[in-house]
Amino acid sequence: MAVLITGGCGYIGSHTCVEMVKAGFDVVVADNYHNAKSGVQQRIVALAGKEIPFYTCDIRKETDLIPIFEQHDIQAVVHFAGWKAVGESTVLPLAYYDNNISGTVTLCKVMQRFGCHRLVFSSSATVYGEENPAPLREQMPVGKVANPYARTKLFNEQILQDLCIANEKFSAVILRYFNPIGAHESGTIGEDPNGIPNNLMPYISQVAIGKLPYLQVFGDDYPTHDGTGIRDYIHVVDLANGHVAAVKYAMAHCGAQIINLGTGIGYSVLDVVTAFEKATNIKIPYQVVPRREGDVTIYLADPTKAKELLGWQAQYDLETMCRDTWRWQQNNPNGYEE
Ligand code: WQD
Repeated sequence: MAVLITGGCGYIGSHTCVEMVKAGFDVVVADNYHNAKSGVQQRIVALAGKEIPFYTCDIRKETDLIPIFEQHDIQAVVHFAGWKAVGESTVLPLAYYDNNISGTVTLCKVMQRFGCHRLVFSSSATVYGEENPAPLREQMPVGKVANPYARTKLFNEQILQDLCIANEKFSAVILRYFNPIGAHESGTIGEDPNGIPNNLMPYISQVAIGKLPYLQVFGDDYPTHDGTGIRDYIHVVDLANGHVAAVKYAMAHCGAQIINLGTGIGYSVLDVVTAFEKATNIKIPYQVVPRREGDVTIYLADPTKAKELLGWQAQYDLETMCRDTWRWQQNNPNGYEE
């Protein structure tokens, strides 16, 4: 009996592999390495302490997926595989709909063919749009999402809910992530963005290591305590353990459930800079620049449902997230060098 992890060599996927094995599951990994380096495989195995089958797999191809289900008794799937760059999605919408939507549909078709009816899906808080008030709760209406990437998350959520209506044996746990940051405490796996990081924490850590000169703070005129944007940052290992809890829930229930994975605690950009400086004793130079197109003032989770339904809540604080980020960055100044 095994759990298939699509995109299992990516940032969140690799951490989830390690936590799934730690929780006693056998895992099988499928990845096409569009957003991951194959070098992470041996690091996952070293942390898991056991062999793990890795398949180079494009989830849009049934011919890639079928051998995996033929060779392994897949009881559940944790589905990370997909493209995730907000800006890129506005330039390449068809590639995003092909990879993220067609890929999910093909995966579900093959799952059903092999009698596998449990799926945990990587969704995003971005589906709440800008009009829902913080803290965000799962029963709120989905918002006007701002880009094709976010629409692929929204469409996949609808597809999985429709599938659960059509097939009463199917179980889909749809996890809405807030802002995952940090790295495994070993410093051997972590976030390895392609090119210049879009997201705050990897950008800060590359400033700290000297790869980038200073941080651009996107706006200090928001209605917040210090004028900068507030987000719900969650340690990637906490997020990974949220997936372990979700797999256990999916194994025991049918139907679709939407669940936030966040801490319920909001920090501003400058709060994160201060926490990083405190955790590492490294000064982070920054310049305030105009707001970034599409940014909202605050994204904050109400994490109640995850606690009540999954028995899960985040454990790590912001300082730990910063310290673990820095250890990964120090050990791997150029990420997973191929
Ligand atoms: C966080 C805060 C920025 C970079 C994104 C995606 C979202 C999800 C999580 C996948 C904001 C500020 C950032 C910088 C800055 N990904 N910032 N300077 O935008 O909340 O969410 O990642 O699901 O879909 O949109 O994360 O880290 O980019 O920004 O000032 O160089 O940091 O304005 O307030 P975001 P982020």
